Amino acid sequence: MVTDATGITRLNTAYAEARILHSAVETGVFELLAEGPLGAAEICARRELHPRLAEDFLNALAALGLLVRAGQRYANSEVAREALVPGGPLFLGGRVKAAAQRHYHTWGRLTEALRDGRPKAAMGLDAMERLYSDPAAARGFFSNMDANNAVVAPQLSARFDWSPYRSFVDVGGARGNVAAELVLSHPHLTGHVMDLAQAEPLFDELMAERGTAGEVTFHPGDFFADEMPSADVVVLGHVLHDWSSEQCQELVDRAFHTLPAGGALVVYDQMLDDDAPDLRSLIGSLNVALLSEGGSEYTAAEFRTWAEKAGFRFDRAERLARGNDTIAVALKD
Ligand SMILES: C[S@@+](CC[C@H](N)C(=O)[O-])C[C@H]1O[C@@H](n2cnc3c(N)ncnc32)[C@H](O)[C@@H]1O
Repeated sequence: MVTDATGITRLNTAYAEARILHSAVETGVFELLAEGPLGAAEICARRELHPRLAEDFLNALAALGLLVRAGQRYANSEVAREALVPGGPLFLGGRVKAAAQRHYHTWGRLTEALRDGRPKAAMGLDAMERLYSDPAAARGFFSNMDANNAVVAPQLSARFDWSPYRSFVDVGGARGNVAAELVLSHPHLTGHVMDLAQAEPLFDELMAERGTAGEVTFHPGDFFADEMPSADVVVLGHVLHDWSSEQCQELVDRAFHTLPAGGALVVYDQMLDDDAPDLRSLIGSLNVALLSEGGSEYTAAEFRTWAEKAGFRFDRAERLARGNDTIAVALKD
């Protein structure tokens, strides 16, 4: 929250800090320094950087806490080792690249979007299929989703009672990162993922990596046109926020029809608090509005309305302790 003019000055150029992070990930600085500390000249040579800006850039990374400077050499800080070096336990490189390469540019058109109400980089079915047909872009996109749902998955696993259910389908489950966590934590569950056909090779790759091949089945399809695979629980995670209220109702209706009596719908998203929505969720909401035709974050009360209209009994909504998501549960009696 800004309370004085200095705060406004800082806010006015907050994009510069983000761009320093973006460029460090795009140029592979953290990956390089994972091999060991290096001086500016060697970093420039190995990463094809011009020396004119490099020293200020590296010192800015140190001032941000992402590098540590010892004499003339730079090393990754602990947080950079965890979250910015590929393979690190909290790796966020996919998220940073998505912000650098797509979101940053669409946010540059916020004023235009505020005037015309139109998305600035639509992610409709055609656009998704085009994106997925480029293997490098698809990998980057899924890596962003993995990083985004990795915080949710263990909490979803722990905060919902999976014991009465035998199976689940993660609809729009990407390459199965959440599904893998669920079957690993609850071995009695059989997992299914429904997503666009182009996600399947990356799904197979991730299942092999996680040791869950055979535990989770991939179902290619369009969730607006094709039947959702039947299972005891339908998960819709970071999906409803991409669609208009009418389309959310349609997806919730479809989930109701696919579930057996006694089944459950579990949804997670950065839901907005009715009275005092927090800044992170509002930024998330504007982000999806900039990237999709009708999407935005929504309140738990809105989800409840869609669920009850579909025939569900609303059970609960719970803000998760880590990250910024809320899970909401609706039951089919
Ligand atoms: C924002 S991602 C969410 C992924 C994952 N559930 C998570 O929590 O990170 C939305 C997912 O929906 C998928 N998707 C989008 N439109 C779809 C459609 N019409 N049919 C099936 N899947 C679709 C995308 O491929 C993507 O994997």
